[in-house]
Amino acid sequence: MKTLIAYYSFTGNNAILAASLKERLGADLYEITEPRPRKGTTILLDILLGRRPRINPPTVNATRYDRVILVGPVWNAKIASPVASFLAWLKGKIPSYGYVTLCGGRDGQQEKMVRELGRIAGKPPLFVRQLALRDWLPEDRKANAKKGTSFKISAADLVSFRPAIDELVGELSQKTEKSML
Ligand SMILES: Cc1cc2nc3c(=O)[nH]c(=O)nc-3n(C[C@H](O)[C@H](O)[C@H](O)COP(=O)(O)O)c2cc1C
Repeated sequence: MKTLIAYYSFTGNNAILAASLKERLGADLYEITEPRPRKGTTILLDILLGRRPRINPPTVNATRYDRVILVGPVWNAKIASPVASFLAWLKGKIPSYGYVTLCGGRDGQQEKMVRELGRIAGKPPLFVRQLALRDWLPEDRKANAKKGTSFKISAADLVSFRPAIDELVGELSQKTEKSML
């Protein structure tokens, strides 16, 4: 099964996760980028105004893939707005997709994200998987995580997320494409 991992990352956490998933799944990797440099205030404006920002025209041939795994942050219980823009572009081009996020881990956001993804793509995702900082970081690292909104992991931290990544990779390595919601 040919898999594309398309990721967006503002502070680097989801870039580290995407690189690891690429290795584990033998997938292709594509970075979603924006023409204008993003700032913290741009994130807040996107949240407040419900904006979907302009992204650089995707240079990937999505129709070559059997599935796309989107990787990116959660902002205010929604998928990061540049990923939303990419998914809108992706609509109708691929058989299946899912969303993986290394996020703070806020209560009640899972269902919201499933609904949001379905609205944008015109069909439900196969899965939404949250790897939450608050669940997986060791206690001593968590203390610095400032409620999980601005905590940067290092590549070495990924070892803490290993059980969750192993489980996800195991599920994604099955031959069948059944819903994992
Ligand atoms: C403005 C803002 C809002 C956020 N809102 C949420 C949220 O609602 N739920 C959540 O789980 N994490 C939230 N986070 C945390 C990010 O998802 C988390 O820090 C993520 O790992 C950042 O990914 P990145 O380094 O790839 O950009 C928020 C972060 C920021 C900056």
